[in-house]
Amino acid sequence: MRFSTVSGLVAALSLACASNAARILLNNDDGFGSGNTRELYRLLKEAGHEVVIVAPATQQSGQGGLTEFTTEANLTAPSQYDIVPAGAPSVGTDPNDSNIWYYNGTPAACTFVGLDYVIPRYYKDWKYGPDVFVAGPNFGVNLGPFVFTLSGTIGSTYAAVSRSVPGIAISASNDRIAYSDVKNTSNPATWTAKASFKVVQEFIESTPEGQSVLPLGYGVNVNIPPLDNDEEPPIYQTRLTGEADTDIAAYDEETGLFDWDFALPKPAGVNACWNGDCSLPGETWIVNGGGVSVSLFTVDYDAPTNVYTTDVFGKVSALFEGPKGNGTSAGSKKLKRGLARPIIKRHQ
Ligand SMILES: *[C@@H]1O[C@H](CO)[C@@H](O)[C@H](O)[C@H]1NC(C)=O
Ligand SMILES: *[C@@H]1O[C@H](CO)[C@@H](O)[C@H](O)[C@H]1NC(C)=O
Ligand SMILES: *[C@@H]1O[C@H](CO)[C@@H](O)[C@H](O)[C@H]1NC(C)=O
Ligand SMILES: *[C@@H]1O[C@H](CO)[C@@H](O)[C@H](O)[C@H]1NC(C)=O
Repeated sequence: MRFSTVSGLVAALSLACASNAARILLNNDDGFGSGNTRELYRLLKEAGHEVVIVAPATQQSGQGGLTEFTTEANLTAPSQYDIVPAGAPSVGTDPNDSNIWYYNGTPAACTFVGLDYVIPRYYKDWKYGPDVFVAGPNFGVNLGPFVFTLSGTIGSTYAAVSRSVPGIAISASNDRIAYSDVKNTSNPATWTAKASFKVVQEFIESTPEGQSVLPLGYGVNVNIPPLDNDEEPPIYQTRLTGEADTDIAAYDEETGLFDWDFALPKPAGVNACWNGDCSLPGETWIVNGGGVSVSLFTVDYDAPTNVYTTDVFGKVSALFEGPKGNGTSAGSKKLKRGLARPIIKRHQ
């Protein structure tokens, strides 16, 4: 990691300043004018980090990991909150801040435009790309495996993780607010940003210089409960499964239309715990109880090695060519060696 000691004037001005300064790519599916994201941007910069926002030009919630690039060179309508007018390029910056970029595409597309266009062209000193990717804080929580694939906040994060950038997805419970409506530091967007900052900063601060914030393939899912003041909510180590919700198709006899609703009782399928520590509390339960949840995920979605996996493969093993691994084959041994490698040093 490129972490260097913050020196000179910046350090002199702020004793609370981080000793680790990180390069952070910030995104948010709610758009580049999100009050939550702009407040987190402010706090991360105040701590001495270099931060670049690349986020959708418009509200893009619920897009999951969909990567959709615009086919128009210029915006056909004004951006969110009229920050930039129709006719402006489809990728560009806020007129008041050249480190706040918008792109007219999905959240995951913005991650890639950030990694492959904005940073290589305009931040050439970010030679190794961002140290950390952060999405959010989203307006609305993203709890449990079901929303994992549905949320643009999480989708833009696993897009970064898949590109070897440590990713942290953050979702909160406060109402949508435009950056221009955040007029003081005593409002839910600022409280949410402070709770988010605390987690991001802890990950950065506790990473030794020269190391990556997360191992390859790892991401973090953070959820924040409703906040009434800037009292810091308790933070818990959690898992995605456990009291998690999923949907049903709720049919309306009068209109003949479907809408989603929560499945009750909570289905066992979405709560099956195969990976991670199944004794941890579920993130849904923690956030409903007023805590901040911190869950880890990996983008390795393979089923774990256990008797069920062996049985399931066994049903169709007659179809397979080549080694039939059950954790004992040469191929699996190679993989295990790969996983046991030390954390890749992405920066000198
Ligand atoms: C986009 O806008 C630029 C000016 O900003 C203009 O030169 C260009 O022709 C426009 N492209 C399209 C496809 O409208
Ligand atoms: C840019 O800053 C000026 C002066 O503070 C303000 O009037 C204007 O609304 C800002 N524009 C945007 C897009 O935030
Ligand atoms: C801060 O702004 C919010 C609206 O965002 C308002 O409700 C609150 O009263 C303001 N607080 C102070 C101390 O000015
Ligand atoms: C599975 O593992 C056992 C040893 O635990 C080994 O004897 C067996 O050959 C393996 N089966 C396959 C399909 O690799």
